[in-house]
Amino acid sequence: MIKTDYLSIGSGVAGLTFAVKIAEKFPDRTVTIVTKSDEGESNTKYAQGGVAVVLDNIEDSFQKHIQDTLIAGDGLCDESVVQMVIKEGPKRFRELLDWGVNFDLDAQGNFNLGREGGHSEHRVVHHKDITGYEVERALLQRAHQLKNVELLPYHFAIDLITEHHLTQKDSGKLSCYGAYVLNERTGEILTIKAKYTLLATGGIGRVYGHTTNPNIATGDGIAMAYRAKARVKDMEFVQFHPTALYDSNEDSSFLISEAVRGFGAYLRNKKGHRFMPDYDDRAELASRDIVSQCIDNELKKTGDAHVYLDCTHLDITAFKEHFPNIYEKCRGMHIDIAKDWIPVVPAAHYLCGGIVVDENGKTTIDNLYACGECSRTGLHGANRLASNSLLEALVYAHNIFKHLSDKSLLFDHSDLPAWNDKGTSIPKEHVLIQHNLKELQALMRDYVGIVRSNSRLTKAIIKLDTIYKEVEGLYKESKINTSLCELRNMVNVAHLIIGQSLSRKNNRGGYYNIDNA
Ligand code: FAD
Ligand code: SIN
Repeated sequence: MIKTDYLSIGSGVAGLTFAVKIAEKFPDRTVTIVTKSDEGESNTKYAQGGVAVVLDNIEDSFQKHIQDTLIAGDGLCDESVVQMVIKEGPKRFRELLDWGVNFDLDAQGNFNLGREGGHSEHRVVHHKDITGYEVERALLQRAHQLKNVELLPYHFAIDLITEHHLTQKDSGKLSCYGAYVLNERTGEILTIKAKYTLLATGGIGRVYGHTTNPNIATGDGIAMAYRAKARVKDMEFVQFHPTALYDSNEDSSFLISEAVRGFGAYLRNKKGHRFMPDYDDRAELASRDIVSQCIDNELKKTGDAHVYLDCTHLDITAFKEHFPNIYEKCRGMHIDIAKDWIPVVPAAHYLCGGIVVDENGKTTIDNLYACGECSRTGLHGANRLASNSLLEALVYAHNIFKHLSDKSLLFDHSDLPAWNDKGTSIPKEHVLIQHNLKELQALMRDYVGIVRSNSRLTKAIIKLDTIYKEVEGLYKESKINTSLCELRNMVNVAHLIIGQSLSRKNNRGGYYNIDNA
């Protein structure tokens, strides 16, 4: 058994920021980070647009950013959380600078501020169009400098350890004691005992297959928390990004940042009509729930597979300077953005709901915290404002750090039971895992997409039940491996999304059900 003071599950912006802060403050305390893939692989690494923060821009104010966030959230944000996060933003941003994150400057030496959908002002600090890569780089570098941080890549957290494992019966009390973790290289299952555990496991995009998220985004933390009986909320609010690069051969979609529309790009249908002004006065800069729903509507009207993003009227030299990664990606696909329109289509991008936490990031289970995309803080309501996610993770990582700094570390030295794998054998049919995964993703895409209906959701529940039974059967019989656990987690997440969609009786933000219209 491994013992640690703080266990972070995940090494994206949320897990790393918390780990770095607590390790810097308490050099005599141990911080263990487990992460299931390469240490940098995360949604964070792919963030493009940047971090929304109110700096010295004379035109901007906290109040404007608060208003934009509330409007995007369509009446379901927790206003006190919105106020807190936005006012804390500048302090947390300056910490990133202290850790060596580079942000672009303008000719006057001020931070170059981008603009994205739903923002009334330019307020998005960024590093070219690879902001997340730069944030992840600097945080990993800082974490490696700290002697009391142990980072374990290719370690997959299977389940949280709670009373259930201690007593084999439900005592009514819920505390977390750490996690069972699979060393993916050796196949050994470790018992990691922690005084405090942080879920920082990121998003769920892979549940849909067609997504801007990398393969790690399988909702593991949410599924673990749900199985441990933590409260999980707002799962119906899956955010679809309007402009993923269309590629008929690929599930995983490269993102064309919303900052490109902030830079002046137009959305056109195949006939060349610029359709967004028909739907919303803000045109291409409406919030992304609205833009995605409008694109979906255009595609349904025309039967086309994608619409276009037109950059041909823009200053291409400046474009290349701001968006070198996007420019190169398009060029690699023989799209010359100076002449050609970019084919784009909405794709699953972000989960606004998740594990319910209070202002200190505490879940409904003692000693268990959640931060970043897996958490539900109340900031996003029914639809997240662009570039508010990195901000939220930074602010909540700090709040959790502050809260835990004041808490005792008295350790209960009793042993925890080792993982029980009696009755399991080597999986013989890996193909079954792949088959069920494809079925699950098709089901979510076809029945639980941008526009939903009660009959489709009900069909989805019935179909999911068949997949659930098959996957649970496999899980009980098989020796644990990552893809099987991820599939099991995705089935749990799908169940939560569909169930909570059916419970919602009015349309808000990113949730649209034709039967509520
Ligand atoms: P992640 O960064 O996803 O990290 C999760 C970590 O948990 C990973 O290390 C993963 O390996 C690990 N993990 C997961 N499950 C397990 C397990 N079972 N065991 C062990 N480890 C596990 N937001 C913005 O604010 N601005 C942007 O410009 C922006 N652009 C984006 C562009 C793209 C293409 C994408 C996909 C997202 C973007 N977002 C943006 C959203 C934002 O990047 C994410 O919401 C945010 O980075 C999430 O950070 P996180 O730390 O919560 O999770
Ligand atoms: C983007 O750059 O369009 C993504 C921004 C975000 O998801 O916040």
